[in-house]
Formats: sequence, C-alpha cells, structure tokens
Amino acid sequence: GFSWKLADHPKLPKGKLVAMIVLDGWGEASPDKYNCIHVAETPTMDSLKNGAPDKWRLVRAHGTAVGLPTEDDMGNSEVGHNALGAGRIYAQGAKLVDLALASGKIYEDEGFNYIKESFATNTLHLIGLMSDGGVHSRLDQLQLLLKGASQHGAKSIRVHVLTDGRDVLDGSSVGFAEILEAELSDLRSQGIDAQVASGGGRMYVTMDRYENDWEVVKRGWDAQVLGEAPHKFKNVVEAIKTLREAPGANDQYLPPFVIVDDSGKPVGPIVDGDAVVTFNFRADRMTMLAQALEYENFDKFDRVRVPKIRYAGMLQYDGELKLPSHYLVSPPLIERTSGEYLVHNGVRTFACSETVKFGHVTFFWNGNRSGYFNAELEEYVEIPSDSGITFNVQPKMKALEIGEKTRDAILSGRFDQVRVNIPNGDMVGHTGDVEATVVACKAADEAVKMIIDAVEQVGGIYVVTADHGNAEDMVKRNKKGEPILKDGEVQILTSHTLQPVPIAIGGPGLAAGVKFRKDVPSGGLANVAATVMNLHGFVAPDDYETTLIEVVD
Ligand code: 3PG
Ligand code: CO
Repeated sequence: GFSWKLADHPKLPKGKLVAMIVLDGWGEASPDKYNCIHVAETPTMDSLKNGAPDKWRLVRAHGTAVGLPTEDDMGNSEVGHNALGAGRIYAQGAKLVDLALASGKIYEDEGFNYIKESFATNTLHLIGLMSDGGVHSRLDQLQLLLKGASQHGAKSIRVHVLTDGRDVLDGSSVGFAEILEAELSDLRSQGIDAQVASGGGRMYVTMDRYENDWEVVKRGWDAQVLGEAPHKFKNVVEAIKTLREAPGANDQYLPPFVIVDDSGKPVGPIVDGDAVVTFNFRADRMTMLAQALEYENFDKFDRVRVPKIRYAGMLQYDGELKLPSHYLVSPPLIERTSGEYLVHNGVRTFACSETVKFGHVTFFWNGNRSGYFNAELEEYVEIPSDSGITFNVQPKMKALEIGEKTRDAILSGRFDQVRVNIPNGDMVGHTGDVEATVVACKAADEAVKMIIDAVEQVGGIYVVTADHGNAEDMVKRNKKGEPILKDGEVQILTSHTLQPVPIAIGGPGLAAGVKFRKDVPSGGLANVAATVMNLHGFVAPDDYETTLIEVVD
C-alpha cells in the first residue's frame, strides 16, 4: 500500500541543512547590454557558475518541460514552482483548457451546466486577462469560449477585460481588443447581444495576488459589478487607445473604465441572476476576485452591492479552500508533493519570501494548496511587500530582509530545509526598466550570498536555481538573437523568456563525490525535487522525475 515513508539514500546522510534558493526570473542567456544579469555585479552567482563544473548546470524551465502546451510557451512562476515542488510534470491549466475546449467536454461538465442555467433569462459575464501570453489566460481560449457559450444558449454576453503588457509587449492590448471586438461583432450579427463592458490594466485593476493590495480588486469590482469607473467610453478600442495617451501610461497600469451606451449608462454591471466566469486558468491573481464573487462573508472591502450570481472559475484556483466551488475545467491534480513527503519524513521546513512571491514557495510549491501540512514542523514567513509602487522604484525590494530572515532561520538550528524565493529579477524585469533591473539583479545576488554564508556556518548544503527566465533578456529579438528594431528603437521585453535556468549545488555539508550526472542532459525543473530529497538523505518516490545528481566513490 501507499506510504509516505521515503527510503534511505544508500550513500547520502540525513540531517544536513538544505537551503533551496529560487531566484525568480533569472535565466541564462548570452551576454549583452540587455542581459541585466550579465551587466549587474553578481559575484556570488558568477562564482557558482565558474566554480566546480560538475556542480553547476542548466535546466529547462519552459514549454513541455513544465507541462505547457508547446515549446513556444515561456516559463512562468506557477508552472515553475509546481514542477520544483512536485517533482513531476503535469499538464498545466493552459493545456487542460485547450483540451477541454477542443473536445467540447468543457460544455458537458458540471461547471458549464451550472452557469448555463442563467442563460435563458440573464447575462453571462466573462472576466479575465486579454492576452496571448499563455501565462494566466489566452485570447484564443476566450474566443472559443465566447463561440461555445453562445452555441450553448447564451444570448447576452459581457466581457470585462484586463489589459496585459506584462506577459506580452506593452501596447499589444490594442490589437487584442480589436480581435475581441471582431469576435463580438460576429456574435452580434448572429443576434447575440455581446459587448465589452469594462476594463483596466491588470496590475491596477483586479489582478493583485497574495493579498498585497485589496484596493486593486476593489477597483475592478466597482467597474465590473457596480458599473462605476472614473473613465467612460463607447467602445474598448477607443478606451485603451485614449487611456494609453496619458503620460507614462502603459497596458499593465491602465485605469479602470466602463463602456456606456448612447445615454451614458454602463452596458454591463453584474446583477442578480447573472452568470460569471473568470476565464484565467492561473490561480494566483484570480483568487482574490474569486473570494469577492463567491464568499457571503467578506470584509476585505465594501462590495456595496452583492449580486446573487452563478459563478464559475475557468479552473478551481485553490484545492484546499475549494475556491471557487464551481469551475469549467478540473485543475491538474498535483498530489504527493516533495514538501508533503519531506514533512512526513520529519524534515522541519522554513519557507520565506515577500508578499508578491510568498505563495510561490508555499501555495505553488505545495501543488496549489494553501496552508501547512504540519504546522509543528513548518514555518512560512511572509515579508510584507511595498504596495502601490512599481518595483523599478524600489528594485532592491525586500531581498535583504528575505536574506536576513532566512539566515536567522538557518542559524537557529530549528530547520532542516529553508526554501526561499528572491523576486527581484522577475518583478523588476516585468517593469521593462533596464537600469532598475540591473540594480535588482545585484540585490538578488547579495541575498544569495547572505544565505550561502549562513549555510557555510552550519555546515549545510545549498541548491540555487530559478523558476524561469526574465532579467537575462529585456528586448524582443529575431531568430538570430538580434534585437528587433521598430521605428529605429528596440522593443523592451517585459515578459519572461524561453531561456534555461542555472542550478548550482554546494556547501560544506555536500558529501564528497556528489556531482551532477551527465545522463540527464534535458533535465528540467521537475528533476530538482528528487535531487533535494537525495540531499536530505532520501530516495525520491519512483514516479518522480529522476535526480540530477550522482555520488561517485
Ligand atoms: C505575473 O503574474 O506577474 C506575470 O504574469 C507572471 O510572472 P510570474 O510567473 O513570475 O509570477
Ligand atoms: Co514573472
């Protein structure tokens, strides 16, 4: 029968402290001036790379290696941390939604049948990120859902869009809005009352995460549910174009707007009896809105009016909270994660990051599950992020604080594993501010040093890796790798990349003879969990992706 007990590793000892350090958005790419990691002073990461050649390598962090539909899909933190924590590759939300739409199964399952009951009398609202980034949502999936819902009886549809510019180029929201408008106009020609009802930039409206700033969700609620926003327009393309003209405006931070009819009335507030679908498949930036839509008791902001709706998520976003209770596609069932195994085997675990990445080393790491497995053996520490700023203004973020807390946890002797996410390369990289990203990379490197120094003091082991690329490439390039010029200028890349990420092992506790194997050249993030289990003195379960290390006598 099944047992949580892990077998002893034949050669590696137990009881060594293991520090698992994840640099967010830190890929490997050729050196040039848009590679902020290369430009920044990063002596610690450099010394790992230039140290023992059998203790540093690259691993895949994008595409099918992390369960995404194709090799053109860049990595992201959700799938990256899922793979790191689970040690196996799961077909992820993007892929599962593709399959459910292609087979039509999405229209047969519970979630769709639940919302469908509203179609005869009421409006279907679709809320989510308008983007083809494939990180949180995809526009082609929204288009298919619009077609499918209308074929299955929806007569009135309102779309509430969030503009991206973070997983895709800034300014691309205009083109996406035009595609969406064409789709809706096609539906209108078939007699369906289909329109965009509201919008706003994802970072300013709705898509906050880990409760960093509920005001963001409230702004969305006001526009989407109440039909109230500071800006009113007749159509979405005009709205985005006009709002982008303001100095400093960009897709990520567009202010909220509502679409109004000729008499100035908002076309799509959400009212009693309506159906609502949040069409993002990724969880972290939808769970706050999901709570506002679903929970009867809710005190994070004044909802003013709480319509009685039928609400479904594209996926269920939180498996532990069962949130939302209705969903169109079942999420990947990520079970028996390495964190859960290790806790069952007595490994005392400390996890830490600042708010904006806290859930990455807890929730995502543990298979999209909130909370502790065993509160007596685990401690998760969240360092409050600055809120209400873009991180190019504070590129050091809380790297120092994360480093200090983790150092203290290591020196306390109370833990066998410390696990951290250092967000700077990613969060600042997403702003597209190249100079600030260089500062960010240096700060991240300093945090790594602080943790590694503590590992040295206690005779432990470190594993340093990353979840996906970002800061190592800040421009859009052609196939040859040259920056693409548009009107004589490079196009700044705010998004992640397709690059591999480094992984380094070391520390005084690393047994002699441990080195990276040569026979897993295509290893990816999912191979890390078995590796870490080995370093704790255990053999990983059979169905885990193979370890990256061997022990030579
Ligand atoms: C975000 O949510 O900030 C971006 O879309 C993806 O970034 P992450 O995967 O690094 O969180
Ligand atoms: Co990112």
